[in-house]
Amino acid sequence: DIRSSYTDDLQFYGRHTPRELAETFGTPLYVYNENVLRQRCRDLMGLSKHPGFGVNYSIKANANPVLLRMVREEGLVVDAMSPGELYMDQLAGFSSEQILYISNNNSREELKNALKHNLLVSVDSLSQLDDLGAINWGGKVMVRFNPGIGAGHHAKVVTAGKETKFGVNPGQMDEVFALLKKHNMTLAGINQHIGSLFMEAEGYLNAAEVLLHMAEQLPESALKALEIIDFGGGFGIPYHKYEEQPRLDMAELGSRLHALISDWAGKTGYTGRFLVEPGRYVAAECSVLLGSVHAVKNNGEKRYVGTDLGFNVLVRPAMYDSFHDVEIYGKADGNPRKEMVQTVVGNICESGDILAKDRELPEICEGDVLGILDAGAYGFTMSSNYNQRQRPAEVLIQSDGTARLIRRRESLEDLVSCLEGLN
Ligand code: LLP
Repeated sequence: DIRSSYTDDLQFYGRHTPRELAETFGTPLYVYNENVLRQRCRDLMGLSKHPGFGVNYSIKANANPVLLRMVREEGLVVDAMSPGELYMDQLAGFSSEQILYISNNNSREELKNALKHNLLVSVDSLSQLDDLGAINWGGKVMVRFNPGIGAGHHAKVVTAGKETKFGVNPGQMDEVFALLKKHNMTLAGINQHIGSLFMEAEGYLNAAEVLLHMAEQLPESALKALEIIDFGGGFGIPYHKYEEQPRLDMAELGSRLHALISDWAGKTGYTGRFLVEPGRYVAAECSVLLGSVHAVKNNGEKRYVGTDLGFNVLVRPAMYDSFHDVEIYGKADGNPRKEMVQTVVGNICESGDILAKDRELPEICEGDVLGILDAGAYGFTMSSNYNQRQRPAEVLIQSDGTARLIRRRESLEDLVSCLEGLN
């Protein structure tokens, strides 16, 4: 292979080669590695030994139930923010107590559905608190607050601070309690999520402190009734695998978070749970997206590598200018390949269909298979049928090194399965 040291070191493809997998299952293909997934779960579970500490995996990053089962085996719980996510959680065997419904602008039907399944629901506005109360008299509720501190890799994924739609302003606590009283509800939890992909612990810990400070201001009886404090997700992963990008320091984050929650619980007598809610950190690094190179050309000075990896398969680069490192699995013919600047594109009819822009890489040739690294989070879950392309297949490299199909490629029949009125 031409450029594969990162996955080689991990023995990512088990007993197979990526070219073999591409041949057997076709491309585009999401390949997952069980060992990597489990390791990331363990990194997170190890952040704190506080008895109330837990990890709530945000399944919007990746919701394949086969992977979710492994996440469950590793002791994590999960969120759901739609009936579909709830369904996936249930398929993976999570019980009601292991699922938090973190809603945002939900219809009454959706809220009812969550209650029907005995889930604790987090609401993110006063009006939704009132809506939920109308169907949950005497019940429990969680409220999502906006700590006023945002973070993230792109404006589109910063989810706290004034410029975002999320959360209840802590200044509206009186209104929150008025609504709780109106519906005889108990505030069982508070949560927040400041944004996605931070590489330093500082901002997250500061926001966690803000939430704890807010909890401290609650009336004593309310603090006693509180069962869950959820600090949200956003833990970043290093997408630059060939440039030695430093990792988020989990040891530092863990020890500081542990100290923070232990001290706070000691000080306040709180005996409930503390949750973190990562999505990306769990799922991103356990997957490589395989694609095939179908055409190579020069447009003026620019060299374009044309693949089957359109933004219908992985939208992050097109949507957020996100960086994913690229590996090249080519037939080694003994000739060294020159390094050159290349732009890897997909097969979608838009000029923004760019996967990797102006990268200095060994010359990519027709017939090569490419591996797009760290594609497990917000990869498949954000894929689409744009241009009437079928969504890709997913394969798992199990701990014993064997490959197992965990989602077949969509068929043409799948594309029309919801159509009505044709006859
Ligand atoms: N909790 C809530 C309420 C969230 O909205 C999110 C992500 C998470 C947890 C998990 O965040 P994470 O740990 O994965 O950063 N599609 C974007 C990321 C969007 C994140 C949206 N909310 C991307 O591909 O970068």
